[in-house]
Amino acid sequence: TLEGASALLEQIGAGPIPSIPKAAAHPLARPVDIYRLYLAQILAKAAGCDAALAYDSVQVPGTAANGDLVLPVPRLRLPKGVKPAEKAAEIAAAFPDADVLFKKVVAAGIHLPFFFNPRPLPRFILPYIFQRKNTYGDDLEVGLRDPTNPDMGRKTVVIDFSSPNIAKEFHAGHLRSTIIGAYIANLYKNMGWDVVKLNYLGDWGKQFGLLAVGWKRYGDEEELKREPLKHLLDVYARINRDFKPEEEARDAAAKAGKETAEIETKGLFAERNAFFRKMEERDPEAIGLWQRFRDISIERYIQTYARLNISFDEYSGESTVQSSSIEEAEKILKEKGIYEAHNGAWAIHFDQHGAKGLGTAIIRGRDGSTTYLLRDVAGVLERERKYNFDKMIYVVSSEQDQYFRRVFKTLELMGRKDLADKLIHINFGKVEGMSSRLGNVKLLGDILDNSREAMHEVMRRNEVKYSQVENPDAVAEAVGIAAVMVQDMSGKRINNYPFDMDRMTAFEGDTGPYLQYCHARLNSILRKSDITREELVNHFIDHPSSLDGDIDSDKPHGADLLRLMAQYPDVTAMALKNHEPSTILTYLFRLAHQLSSCYDVIQVKGTDASREVTLARAALYEGARQVLENGMRLLGLSPVDRM
Ligand code: ARG
Repeated sequence: TLEGASALLEQIGAGPIPSIPKAAAHPLARPVDIYRLYLAQILAKAAGCDAALAYDSVQVPGTAANGDLVLPVPRLRLPKGVKPAEKAAEIAAAFPDADVLFKKVVAAGIHLPFFFNPRPLPRFILPYIFQRKNTYGDDLEVGLRDPTNPDMGRKTVVIDFSSPNIAKEFHAGHLRSTIIGAYIANLYKNMGWDVVKLNYLGDWGKQFGLLAVGWKRYGDEEELKREPLKHLLDVYARINRDFKPEEEARDAAAKAGKETAEIETKGLFAERNAFFRKMEERDPEAIGLWQRFRDISIERYIQTYARLNISFDEYSGESTVQSSSIEEAEKILKEKGIYEAHNGAWAIHFDQHGAKGLGTAIIRGRDGSTTYLLRDVAGVLERERKYNFDKMIYVVSSEQDQYFRRVFKTLELMGRKDLADKLIHINFGKVEGMSSRLGNVKLLGDILDNSREAMHEVMRRNEVKYSQVENPDAVAEAVGIAAVMVQDMSGKRINNYPFDMDRMTAFEGDTGPYLQYCHARLNSILRKSDITREELVNHFIDHPSSLDGDIDSDKPHGADLLRLMAQYPDVTAMALKNHEPSTILTYLFRLAHQLSSCYDVIQVKGTDASREVTLARAALYEGARQVLENGMRLLGLSPVDRM
């Protein structure tokens, strides 16, 4: 509660937390906001401005060296003729010399960089974290429809991610969508939104006609039970090989300007189309087989996603979009006059409707079949009715950038700009060489197996350590998955990166194994203290002064660690805005590096310090461990206790 925080600060001698009603502060979630409130109160006096304006003008700088908070003085909306640098010097001169929370400020041009006093940091930040534990960094207020009236409920976000295609390869694009999508789902949930996780399977279309034909030739019930995903992939690959010559003949004819109908009414073409037509007509036998492939695939997917701690609220798919919604979408398009005949098919000419660069897109094929685009557009209408969402996020590769612009534009042309404005495409770049470097793997399970085995190999190289790990398989699994995920989330989403097994499984550098190692090391500090986590935390809350000797301006390591820990909720808030997992990951690596510079200076074992001091130091590391754990879990990693 706010009273709790107030009590802590009054013990420190800071006076009650200032109340600035118009400031958008989150004191219960972000400790830095509490500092900001105090700072705004001081600035209001020193600069002679409104406290709420001062509050909003203060920012969190990009690097700790530039302060814990910074005020770019022009943000105070200075009257004409007042020079910002002079005003900055004036505010600095009026700033108190001996404030409890802030060091005396020195102007840097038009900026005022503020630094927290080290001494009060542990007494405030550590209890703040200990009271929140695994919710530190969360901010449930953010997701409220109306923060002044919690009864209005929470905002809803629908997240469409992973979304592989049945009987086809789970490629790197699906892997990235899975990793990034799960992270975004965690983030919104922690920020108080109601989250609906949708897996929109590629489970409809003529390729299922072909798969069914292949099943008749190559299908094996035993294989399907044992390895459903592999078997369907295999059956589809084989029938596709048989089909290829026919397809090539058709393409050659089309290129030569000849009629292709002749070719398309014979052989596998005819068999494929006949089966798919039966599916579209809901023939029980055809639907029965298709449903069986779908169910058995989903069952296996659920197991594999569980290895990543991922579950979905709904397995929808292209097949589940209702024909009534499709007709509804088409009716509106026709009414608006943007649904036009095009070479025997139906299309939208985007360039003719003020959307240059989006070209022409087929909405319904020549044979009357619906398209990916039409199904997605109709799907939006359906999901709007079902979930009444405030936002819907598609996590799909940047190869579909233009495609999603078409989806959104189509809704706009339908007169539903209000709805289009709620949709976001979160895109990402390519992974180079994944399947070749992993030995041509085609399934999510294989990717995870291969990473686990590669990690296991690396672990075995250190015989002594390896012999002490209780459950090496489980550790290799968690660390191997961390290796894949951290590699994926290290850069900006839009960047391509090469799949590099040696680099991602290394313990040196900013890798998943390094992060896991860092967590395991912090955990071992606690273990060696012979005290439970609960006792350690309570002990610190009762004896905060035991850490005083380690926190002062001459020895910046501990204070810098605490300053970084205080920022974590601001980092999650920023991450919610930019949807970049690297925002969290970069922060965690900064924390890890800061920690490793602390170990030699603030030692827990093997010193002649008193038990009190030793326990206080262990508590400092426990606080850091909690922040590291929270960040790792947010990213979807499972922190290991030993390795
Ligand atoms: N199944 C598609 C693919 O593999 C991705 C689907 C993305 N979601 C959507 N609503 N279109 O490319």
